[in-house]
Amino acid sequence: MNLSSELLNNIIDVTSKSAVACYSFIGKNEKILADKASTDIMRKELNKLDINGEVVIGEGELDEAPMLYIGEKLGTGNGPNIDIAVDPVEGTNFVAKNLPGAMSVLAMAEKGNLFNAPETYMEKIAVSNDVPKEAVDLDFSVEKNINNLSEALNKKTNEITVCLLDRPRHDRIIKSLNKLNVNIKFISDGDVSGALLVTDKNYGVDMFMGIGGGPEGVIAAAALDAENCKFQGRFLFKTDRDIIRAKKMGIRDLTKKYDIHEIIKGESIFCATGITNSDFMKGIQRKNEKYITETIYTHKKSKLALVKKEISLT
Ligand code: FBP
Repeated sequence: MNLSSELLNNIIDVTSKSAVACYSFIGKNEKILADKASTDIMRKELNKLDINGEVVIGEGELDEAPMLYIGEKLGTGNGPNIDIAVDPVEGTNFVAKNLPGAMSVLAMAEKGNLFNAPETYMEKIAVSNDVPKEAVDLDFSVEKNINNLSEALNKKTNEITVCLLDRPRHDRIIKSLNKLNVNIKFISDGDVSGALLVTDKNYGVDMFMGIGGGPEGVIAAAALDAENCKFQGRFLFKTDRDIIRAKKMGIRDLTKKYDIHEIIKGESIFCATGITNSDFMKGIQRKNEKYITETIYTHKKSKLALVKKEISLT
């Protein structure tokens, strides 16, 4: 009810404008400036909307020279109470180096329905809606997950593809996958996209796993929920600072494994506008003084869809 089609349309405008805001930084090796440009516009545009919004997943916290910080109020205040997860530039390195995969991303749900977490790492696993929910689990070994997946999808292990971030912290997972002769799709950054690759067979990814950003996990969960995919996440609170923050936010069990329905509940909106090209949509195209953007979105329980917009920043 509260997440109307009109609101969806406005949010597509928000991520489109936020994407376009960093257009001039593509390939300029200025990831902080790019992030700031997109963040400023995202904040400005969200503040025009008739919502009583609050950032629950953001870029840092009030005490650390924040971008869109956790707890920041957004919108005119006249409208539904909404929790918002923002990532104005997902893949800042991609923008800096003009590489595929950069996008401006936002997810929202009605108040209380989006997990509220500090910015920390998260262990994640995601599979498509073709896989029975009990087949894979963060608590299973890599071998057990792959063997179960192999049975569920009726594929040999050497026909399975797993996507994960190319990081030394994944060496043990990679060793196990190699032993099983599984194909690995390594990504250098951008694990919102990595997780979304399980939503459609055409992307050729059977499972997404590994440790990446917690905010990215929560945002991806919103889209995966609409697609009825399985997702589990476990936040990794390593430093004393992370632990204190998590406790302040009411997280008691710091090692809890969260199912997708504990991360995102009820109706939601997910929007991701391409900054550079990706598997999902084209990046920004400039046309005279206008910009053409492509945005993928989910609305309530609708599957991922794509919309084009013509944006002018003036
Ligand atoms: P930024 O766009 O904020 O730079 O994040 C990119 C990203 O690759 C995320 O998609 C991912 O979740 C995270 O960084 C992984 O963090 P790290 O680079 O520390 O492994």
